[in-house]
Amino acid sequence: MDSENKIIIAIDGYASTGKSTLAKALAKELGYAYIDTGAMYRATTLFFLRHKIKLENDRAIQKALHAINIRFLPASEGNRLILNGEDVEDEIRKMYVSEMVSEVAAISAVRRTMVAQQREMGGEKGVVMDGRDIGTVVFRDAELKIFLTANSEVRTKRRLEELVAKGLEVKEDEVGANLTHRDHIDSTRADSPLKKAKDAIEIDNSYISQEEQLLLALNYAKTKILDFSRG
Ligand code: DC
Repeated sequence: MDSENKIIIAIDGYASTGKSTLAKALAKELGYAYIDTGAMYRATTLFFLRHKIKLENDRAIQKALHAINIRFLPASEGNRLILNGEDVEDEIRKMYVSEMVSEVAAISAVRRTMVAQQREMGGEKGVVMDGRDIGTVVFRDAELKIFLTANSEVRTKRRLEELVAKGLEVKEDEVGANLTHRDHIDSTRADSPLKKAKDAIEIDNSYISQEEQLLLALNYAKTKILDFSRG
């Protein structure tokens, strides 16, 4: 693929709609970088928990944000999130982090810091970025915006399978309740709530396979890349 004609692909959607699965596969097919912005909010949450940062203490939050360094280390099975030199990729997926992350992600100071870093990471284009506000805030001019949906039973099942595969002990109702809780906070917060961008393409993947979804998205991406290269 011509490096001159690289675009930005924004993938947004509710929790566990398979955003990272699609984003990772698209990035691989196109030779693009993949950035999981949810992992950045999770790493920030982990730091806050470890340092007992109170969410109503603005000064402590500012100080903590200055002390946080986040980077992604490419690995064969996907990127690993490195927080201040430590690989926390597995830790940030655990339930105790999931239970706090939406509250942390609703804090404007946290969002400002993360959004600035995300814009820097995608500045060169050739990136697939997934999250909740990528098409509406981080990259409003992204050439391709995809909004993923799936019904809640399917999402709970997928998330449960993912956690069990990692050897974590979790109950189905606990996982379902966490998804509902996060979706509510993520879509009702004052600062950049989750919503579909007007120009996003919606894909409901409840009953299509990962391969079908990838083909669909890849077709949209190739069309956009062609349009972009023609100016
Ligand atoms: O994608 P995820 O489930 O790992 O994201 C974790 C949380 O981070 C999610 O509940 C909301 C928040 N988030 C956000 O507010 N904005 C983003 N761009 C990505 C995630």
